[in-house]
Amino acid sequence: MSSSTRHERLLSTSVLVIGTGGAGLRASIELAERGVEVLAVGKRRKHDAHTTLAAGGINAALGTMDPEDSWEQHAADTLRESYFLADPAIVEHVTRGAAEGIGDLERWGMPFAREDDGRISQRFFGAHTYRRTAYAGDYTGLEIQRTLVRRATELQVRVIDTIYITRILVADGTVFGVYGFDIVDGAPVQIRADAVILAAGGHTRIWRYTSSRRDENTGDSFRLAALAGARLRDAELVQFHPSGLLEPDDAAGTLVSEAARGEGGVLRNADGERFMERYDPERMELSTRDRVALANYTEIAEGRGTKRGGVLLDVSHLPREQILDRLPRLYRTMIDLQMLDITEQPIEVAPTAHYSMGGVWVAPEDHSTGVEGLYAIGEASSGLHGANRLGGNSLIELLVYGRITGAAAADYVAQRSAVVRSQEAVGEARAEMTSLLEGTGRETPRRLQRAIRDLMTEHAGVVRSEDGLRRGLEQLGELEERELHVAAHPDIAGFDDLAHAFDLKGSLLAARATLESAIERRETRGCHNRSDFPETDEALRGSFLWAPGAGVTFEPAAPAPDSFRELAERTTDDAVAGKLVE
Ligand code: FUM
Repeated sequence: MSSSTRHERLLSTSVLVIGTGGAGLRASIELAERGVEVLAVGKRRKHDAHTTLAAGGINAALGTMDPEDSWEQHAADTLRESYFLADPAIVEHVTRGAAEGIGDLERWGMPFAREDDGRISQRFFGAHTYRRTAYAGDYTGLEIQRTLVRRATELQVRVIDTIYITRILVADGTVFGVYGFDIVDGAPVQIRADAVILAAGGHTRIWRYTSSRRDENTGDSFRLAALAGARLRDAELVQFHPSGLLEPDDAAGTLVSEAARGEGGVLRNADGERFMERYDPERMELSTRDRVALANYTEIAEGRGTKRGGVLLDVSHLPREQILDRLPRLYRTMIDLQMLDITEQPIEVAPTAHYSMGGVWVAPEDHSTGVEGLYAIGEASSGLHGANRLGGNSLIELLVYGRITGAAAADYVAQRSAVVRSQEAVGEARAEMTSLLEGTGRETPRRLQRAIRDLMTEHAGVVRSEDGLRRGLEQLGELEERELHVAAHPDIAGFDDLAHAFDLKGSLLAARATLESAIERRETRGCHNRSDFPETDEALRGSFLWAPGAGVTFEPAAPAPDSFRELAERTTDDAVAGKLVE
């Protein structure tokens, strides 16, 4: 079945949004509210976008539980936890704009958990100074997605969630649309647009244990942006969440929300020791994510883990009603996947690749990418999280920058007077798809995708070294060769195989950016643990920028304003000395 035998569809819109998760929908809503024509496309059903998996909560210094909280303290916590790598201007935008983001959700009917007097409840998440994580049980992302879908529907936002985008089309350095295909019937699709907002997630599915499901976060955004001329920032900075499930195999890495620790869950090794005493006796299980993940990793690597290679997360001492009320998804998931009742038994967990803290380079004021007319938001973007993301910050980021970027794109398209298109760019995109469909090679995307996951897990996991990273690059080179022999075989059920072939291209590019940047970051900082460089190097306080062919360049971090830099420097000592396994 060849797409060349099908008619190419030609659509057009003013602004095209790639991705129908929370970030894409929030931007679309802003555009629609401003009367700008918008089309949002995605490769999976909008009701099932990755945002729905976000569990524990969303941050804003509302002060409903701890009135001393302020946006400055939220900014300080974010900056400090980023190991001073976050872009301070992005931090300020998000933390200052957070209350408005929550207000938008409330207005659109989001069912936040509330105290008896009606205040929004807020709980502790790791490394926050105050309780500032608002939630809806541990279904926060699901409720946010439902709320945004509802609002987008009210505004009649056009959403097509069966379109896979393979290229962003650029002429003379300016975006004029995208190219892709319909996953159901395989029709090639060209969409003309005056601006494109990229909101298609990150690259954590290129590790074996990951909180992303199959075909999610496969690096699509990285590839689309990089081929359009944008740069990737800090691809090596990937957050490993401390607690992912070990089994069953096909759900390995599934997230066990930090909310479990926020509600009072404790971690123990196979000897029954509450080991966080040794890693962070003050904050214990609510230490920073990178520290808890490294602690779990260390316990397992040093032989104090369970037989299956995990540690135990226990909430069974908490009142049953509290578990059912605050952790309903976790309760249900464990029954469904393992027949395990968490009100009685501990959960076996290990670190899982959870969030791309790096991503497409964006300007703080509007998340433009340096390519005229191209914007990136959500997990596709970068700049807020640095080397360690505060749990709950990504959901608020997507609301704040969804709004800001939607507004910026609206202004941009309003002032555009002429559009230049390039038939050459369209031809290239068309030829790329045709060659996959008409190829006769014997390689299959799934097999190569698995090989990437194995090599990234082995060589670019929680702890890395130059030797390992270089071995990873060598193996990656072999996979890149093999990818040239991939052919897509759509069948009567649809064109998923073609989507997998493009996912693979995204994953290969994302893996290369990650490995090459990880080699250059010769230090240990936050999530990036280098066994050969165990200290943080002040000279490397900045970002590694990557572009295909051009390799890696370094850009020092911008100085933070006194208002929250001093607050950030005043608090807990996050020195990394002695942090690594020997
Ligand atoms: O553990 C969690 O619920 C994850 C939250 C987050 O990554 O922000």
